[in-house]
Amino acid sequence: MGFYAPRNLKIVKGEGQYLWDAGGRRYLDCHTGHGVAFLGHRNPIVVEEIMNQLEKIMVLSPVFDSEVKEEVTKLLEKILPNHLTYFYLLNSGSEAVELSLKLARRITGRRRFISFINAFHGRTMGALAMTWNPSYRKDYDPFPWETGFLPYNDVEAVERAVDDRVAAVIVEPVQGEGGLSAATPEFLKTIRERCDRAGAFMIIDEVQSGFGRTGVLWAYQRAGIEPDILVAGKSMGGGFPVSMVAVREEVGARIEVGAHGSTHGGNPLALAALKGGIRALLEDHVVKKANEAGELMGKMLERVASENPESVRGVRGLGLMRGLELRCNPTPCIQELQSRGVLALRAGLTVLRLLPPYMITKQDIQELGEKLGESLKAPASKKAT
Ligand SMILES: Cc1ncc(COP(=O)(O)O)c(C=O)c1O
Repeated sequence: MGFYAPRNLKIVKGEGQYLWDAGGRRYLDCHTGHGVAFLGHRNPIVVEEIMNQLEKIMVLSPVFDSEVKEEVTKLLEKILPNHLTYFYLLNSGSEAVELSLKLARRITGRRRFISFINAFHGRTMGALAMTWNPSYRKDYDPFPWETGFLPYNDVEAVERAVDDRVAAVIVEPVQGEGGLSAATPEFLKTIRERCDRAGAFMIIDEVQSGFGRTGVLWAYQRAGIEPDILVAGKSMGGGFPVSMVAVREEVGARIEVGAHGSTHGGNPLALAALKGGIRALLEDHVVKKANEAGELMGKMLERVASENPESVRGVRGLGLMRGLELRCNPTPCIQELQSRGVLALRAGLTVLRLLPPYMITKQDIQELGEKLGESLKAPASKKAT
């Protein structure tokens, strides 16, 4: 089914921050499978953990205990904020968003949700109801929840809209698909305050921004707040499909047997991948390295923007979740980059998005800057302006 426009590129191998095509050509991967390979392709610790697990057991229902589950539980304690004491594992970001919404619906008894303009929370029906892009929603209504979309970073809109009819506010600390806008601390703090006052849940969706990508472990931590529910996915399994919902004590204590479930969620290979992902994150100081590389990327992008004012409106994002807001459709420029050995992706209508692995080097960033400059000046990109 042709849900994606093809890239016409056959990839045969991936290692660290690079991919290789069938002709042996190397690409710097700033696409990383929509941001999944943040720990690099075939991260050795993740590969080792999966291989070890393959030798033991591949299938085990979550009703049984296992060594790898105990190990992951201990490791998660090291990366989850203290107040989030319960977790559940699923396979995709959308599934995890669905569970967060179901918990809010069930526990508050309310069915009204607040999301934001340009938000992306996934494509399954509950998650899609929270996703703003009208072209993704078109023809799929009615949705299971009632959703109000507020302008992102608009504190007054939050103050007006979050009342005691609202089950939850769901927010990305940095909008991924929607265009790389970063939340101000004041905005997140206001959501927290209003949710407290209204008895609504604050759900933070870190499927894309979490696990160190923005230069801190969880991007919301910059605002010094505590969400009721944290949703994560993409990079945490090091390339293997794993997602997670973590909730605070009072929410976890109200969960009843049978209220949710998943056949594959938390399967032994996913647990091994997550164990490897967390080990890699901690043992290789990924957050610190992402922060340092992110600073270099930011400077490089500012330079490219200042050298190309006719095609670039500005620099967006945080850490290694960055991009250029162009004055035009970014697709021709992304194709130009691909022809020069760099894979990137778009965000929203005008943002060229870069989601490289944390091990991207100074030299990679320098070359990326040169290729971005050339691609922006290429006739095809100019034509789109
Ligand atoms: C913030 C956010 N939430 C949820 C999702 C959905 O995740 P998945 O595609 O794994 O279902 C995405 C995917 O891009 C995302 O960026």
